[in-house]
Amino acid sequence: MPDTYDPAPNDLSSFWMPFTANRQFKENPRMLVGAKDMHYDTIEGHKILDGTAGLWCVNAGHARPKIVKAVQDQVAELDYAPAFQMGHPKAFELANRIASIAPEGMNHVFYTNSGSESVETALKTALAYHKVRGDAGRTRLIGRERGYHGVNFGGISVGGIVANRKMFGTLLSGVDHLPHTHLPEQNAFTKGQPDHGAHLADDLERIAQLHDPSTIAAVIIEPVAGSTGVLIPPKGYLERVREICDKYGFLLIFDEVITGFGRLGSPFAADFFGVKPDMMTTAKGLTSGVIPMGAVIVSDEIHDAFMHGPEHLIEFFHGYTYSGNPVAAAAGLGTLETYADEGLLTRAASLADYWQEKLHSLADHPHVIDIRNIGLIGAVELQPIEGAPTRRAFSAFLKAFERGYMIRTTGDIVALSPPLIISTEQIDELINCLGEVLREID
Ligand SMILES: Cc1ncc(COP(=O)(O)O)c(C=O)c1O
Repeated sequence: MPDTYDPAPNDLSSFWMPFTANRQFKENPRMLVGAKDMHYDTIEGHKILDGTAGLWCVNAGHARPKIVKAVQDQVAELDYAPAFQMGHPKAFELANRIASIAPEGMNHVFYTNSGSESVETALKTALAYHKVRGDAGRTRLIGRERGYHGVNFGGISVGGIVANRKMFGTLLSGVDHLPHTHLPEQNAFTKGQPDHGAHLADDLERIAQLHDPSTIAAVIIEPVAGSTGVLIPPKGYLERVREICDKYGFLLIFDEVITGFGRLGSPFAADFFGVKPDMMTTAKGLTSGVIPMGAVIVSDEIHDAFMHGPEHLIEFFHGYTYSGNPVAAAAGLGTLETYADEGLLTRAASLADYWQEKLHSLADHPHVIDIRNIGLIGAVELQPIEGAPTRRAFSAFLKAFERGYMIRTTGDIVALSPPLIISTEQIDELINCLGEVLREID
């Protein structure tokens, strides 16, 4: 170690960045040093309009006063409390508040630190639930093609994004996948939920018969698939999945890591679509991205099934050192208060029509082969450059950033999901920028 420590990031090599083109980034870094409300500040002093709520998480906007104060106060008062066999009031208070906005009968909250951990927790809960009920033969897990459920082994096993799976061996056994619901030939440029594709849920019947329904524990799907490039559920699809799960006793897990906390204009996608799962995995918007925290919201029936046996015994051998961490819980409370004060859990509903019209105004722009939207989510799919998939969208991302706008790309799809505080003028700005970028790129 040198005797003096220079905090300037003059060497970028040590940090192996996640889901990043490391060499490209380090040649030409995009360094953020500040953020407030709808904007980031770059190290060069430029303002960047946040069109993606960070990574789909900063739903309340940046550096919101109640969240900042809650975190500052909490770290000074109680920085850490053991998560096992001890408690602190804010973790209970936050769980109650989450339960109060969750669908009826979903009153129990298991804390994690991320969406990936929420997914692992939900999958393990499903397996353990069937076992404690004496139905231990239910061990299979069903996911979906193009699903994203984080990056841990359970999540990539039930997930269906090939790039996230192909390096990592055989993954979990006993997993099968529903087909994805992307039908561009019938549904391209649909506004909101597409008309075609509910029948794809019937594949769950085939899977049930193939493995025998009594071997299947749970089905996990994103109500709106986000990270794969925004796939909106066809009308009637989620209802049909729920029906088949009920018919055979499969638990239904909605991965609400991006749809939770107001993204569609209701607290959860379960409310928006009127389909109630047995568990919901959440993270991101729970603390508006400020402190890592996730939560699995569990039905009373599942929770209560564990509450048997001698009372001094641990009911569920699962948890994390930071489950319900005091500073994270304070951030969660500050966030839910901010949402409540400003009506943010339903604000996307009032912006959705405006958002939809603006987004679809890009339909005749160069390279655009599809546009999809729901709530305050949008996707513009571009024709890939032959032989160089992802390059066109990545160029759009770089150009937008140069112009002061943060967009996100996955494959050749531009995905937008701004903080829920965005104004209509800022929506105009963001879409106009994307329009100009589309005209400019090759
Ligand atoms: C639906 C879904 N599940 C899980 C995750 C994983 O969350 P995390 O990155 O916090 O582990 C994500 C992240 O984007 C997600 O979109």
